[in-house]
Amino acid sequence: LNYRVPKTQRHVLETLIKGLQRLEYRGYDSAGVAVDGPNKAAHGNGKQICVIKQQGKVEVLAEKLRSKSQQLHDYLISNKVCPAPLTTNALSLVLEGKGFKFESETDTEVIPKMLKYLHQQPDAKGISFSSLVENAVKELEGAFAIVVKSVHYPGEVVYTIRTFICSAIVEHTRRVIFVEDDDVAAVTGGNLSLHRVCRGPGQDCRAIQTLEMELEQIVKGSYSSYMQKEIFEQPESVMNTMRGRMKFESNMVMLGGLKDHVKVIKRCRRLILIGCGTSYHAAIATRQVLEELTELPVMVELASDFLDRHTPVFRDDVCFFISQSGETADTLMALHFCKENGALTAGITNTVGSSISRDTDCGIHINAGPEIGVASTKAYTSQVVALVMFALFMSEDRISMKQRRQAIFKGLQELPDQIREVLQIDDDVKELAANLYKQLSLLIMGRGYNYATCLEGALKIKEITYMHSEGILSGELKHGPLALVDNKMPVIMIITRDGTYTKCHNALKQVTARQGLPVVLCEKGDKETMSLASKALLLPSTVDCLQGILAVIPLQLLNLAKSVTVE
Ligand code: G6P
Repeated sequence: LNYRVPKTQRHVLETLIKGLQRLEYRGYDSAGVAVDGPNKAAHGNGKQICVIKQQGKVEVLAEKLRSKSQQLHDYLISNKVCPAPLTTNALSLVLEGKGFKFESETDTEVIPKMLKYLHQQPDAKGISFSSLVENAVKELEGAFAIVVKSVHYPGEVVYTIRTFICSAIVEHTRRVIFVEDDDVAAVTGGNLSLHRVCRGPGQDCRAIQTLEMELEQIVKGSYSSYMQKEIFEQPESVMNTMRGRMKFESNMVMLGGLKDHVKVIKRCRRLILIGCGTSYHAAIATRQVLEELTELPVMVELASDFLDRHTPVFRDDVCFFISQSGETADTLMALHFCKENGALTAGITNTVGSSISRDTDCGIHINAGPEIGVASTKAYTSQVVALVMFALFMSEDRISMKQRRQAIFKGLQELPDQIREVLQIDDDVKELAANLYKQLSLLIMGRGYNYATCLEGALKIKEITYMHSEGILSGELKHGPLALVDNKMPVIMIITRDGTYTKCHNALKQVTARQGLPVVLCEKGDKETMSLASKALLLPSTVDCLQGILAVIPLQLLNLAKSVTVE
């Protein structure tokens, strides 16, 4: 980065900038860094912390640092004027009659003001920085992650969280301590101390853990985006979901995170699958196979709606919380609601140590590897695989299901290679994207196992290309959506040779009867379907409950191709 500042501080700045760059994909609109001078003595009673912040990309911040590096250099070695001192003046709103005023209406502004108030109290004399932050945190409600510096405590930094986890560190160390809710961590002169504000029995210390994550897993390499990298990783990520769990020679599956709860699950009143966005679609995609193999009633719920309805939940319900990140607020709130009602809770997450994986009674880690792209891709296919494995796990003793189970085992075994095959239709998809990218809308139709594929494909289109798209259950066509179809409306139909094949053909005929020109996703060798389509994308065949995994991939690639075209 070539900052002309002393070596130690240069290293600190470079680390901070790289860390911010790793988080940039999340779409923050501004960034900043704060640095102390070289030692406490140089700062006297510590009147200045230098904060450099900038709207726009991190690179613009890096450039600003470069342009100010001479000033920064003088400040750091001799405490000359700081290029941009941290100020806490000019306040305007009043805090609860205590005389504190605010510059903005953001929640985060309350925290420094509260710290300042607490620091000014007569009994705060000589209080340590971390105790001060602890006292403030006790007063806070909701979720947050904060790092605090103060002019009164030069050379110290304090960190505390509630339901957030810090990332962007893997290139520096893999040894981490998970800071749990309401813990306060303080770094003073390079030494770390950690204090639990609400300590449970036997929770006196936090162990150092080793992250099983390689730097290669979080850098995008030669791919144009993280999303593209993650789409192409799917042969490996679904394999990793199955690794060590599937025994193909004996058609057995072992899910260590659920094995102690099998009896309770088998006797439950119902299974409730809860998630948001893509994770919710994984629940829809597997509902049928779960109903079939567990012979239990299965409800699928959007976390937000589930909470809005105050849905009745009972002690003999088993609730699954599906979440890639393991941190989605609605899903987490639904989990706490179900726990309060005494249900058994299970997590299906991709993030070891996440709030959902910690707060559930049991569960399955999907082990897809870090998913950095904001739109979920490989986590979806791994969530589906994990839930199908769960269905197999629950039906191990069902003799009547032997053949059916065998077919699913075979499908799972062949899945990584079949995904590899589908990924090769990339060029066909690009051609399709070139035809679609000026359109205003796209309808994606299917039913049965592929209804979820339609919803997920449409969500990807919306999230990545900002184009309107709608997933439609083919059985509902005649109840309204058919009115939208003509020779101009772009339509994709998913038709595979499962139990809904004939009905899907009816839908296809309804669409062509209205001069619709559907692009069809169908299985190789399905000449009948191909003959009715204006264009066909061909998929390898697998067992019905896994076909959606193969069908979703062209839709993941499509929105990617379209977004690239539009840019
Ligand atoms: C966000 C993302 C979606 C994701 C959803 C649920 O809205 O944009 O792609 O599906 O969150 O995330 P989770 O981590 O709980 O699976």
